[in-house]
Amino acid sequence: MSRVAYVNGRFLPLSAAMVSVEDRGFQFADGVYEVIYLKDSRLIDAELHLARLSRSLAAIGMAPPMSQAALLCLMAELIRRNRLSDGLLYLQITRGAAPREHAFPRPLPKPTVVMTLRRAPAFPKDLNAWAAAAITYPDQRWARCDIKTVGLLPNVLAKQAARERGAQEAILIDANGMVTEGASSTVWIVDAAGRLCTRTLDHAVLPGCTREAVAALLARQGIAWTERPFSLAEMQAAREVFLTSATSFVRPITAIDENPVGNGQVGELTRKVFDIFARHVAEEAAATPAGKAA
Ligand SMILES: Cc1ncc(COP(=O)(O)O)c(C=O)c1O
Repeated sequence: MSRVAYVNGRFLPLSAAMVSVEDRGFQFADGVYEVIYLKDSRLIDAELHLARLSRSLAAIGMAPPMSQAALLCLMAELIRRNRLSDGLLYLQITRGAAPREHAFPRPLPKPTVVMTLRRAPAFPKDLNAWAAAAITYPDQRWARCDIKTVGLLPNVLAKQAARERGAQEAILIDANGMVTEGASSTVWIVDAAGRLCTRTLDHAVLPGCTREAVAALLARQGIAWTERPFSLAEMQAAREVFLTSATSFVRPITAIDENPVGNGQVGELTRKVFDIFARHVAEEAAATPAGKAA
């Protein structure tokens, strides 16, 4: 069956789904986006993603194009029309199409709203097979990485560098030698003293929805973790490193820059966090009706 996209009020075959050449997303990367994992036709952590979408829109001075309830209805319809039960739902909202000028156009055009759905591999069962390699790469992004903007060129270049070196993720290092995040993921370490840590949230990183979901699950399980900045040297000395994101779930990193992390095997705490998150996904998939946030 051919894929169906949603574009500005219409459901269209992907091949006919288009936006204007004057769209500000294309011209200026003037827009934001979200990615939500779909499991058993249910959107996982949808409420966290919609809350972040609202924050991203507010941060770039855009009004929400519609209510969250209306967005969820359209998402449910997109899922139905694509007849897909496991996948990734992408939503892009830009400031719309208007003659090119940097400042916000006056009058404001209608925002562009695009949604697509694509097949994703099944949720991983074998964590050893899911383990990945990473490289480190300079963080060359702007000063508001907390906004989930469609301006992803530095992330694209970092990810390509990872691919060219046979790795799956690029872990970004700032000018002070501190780890910020992955090109498309949050980085967690189990430091040399055995403490689970991820970086403090500020303008230098995207507040990951998977990070937020994992943090709540850890609290519920009584598993201690800390939020603090950590350096490249600390990450290199870490016992375990893993990533979280809507597309990689909880993904062990067993090699960084071709050097093994710890003993080069999936660590105990990583395994535990993966299992807890896998249960959460299974529960959400069973409990949340498509089109309705929990
Ligand atoms: C730069 C960056 N950091 C972190 C994340 C993880 O966010 P989430 O858990 O919401 O997928 C992503 C996801 O795409 C990302 O692009």
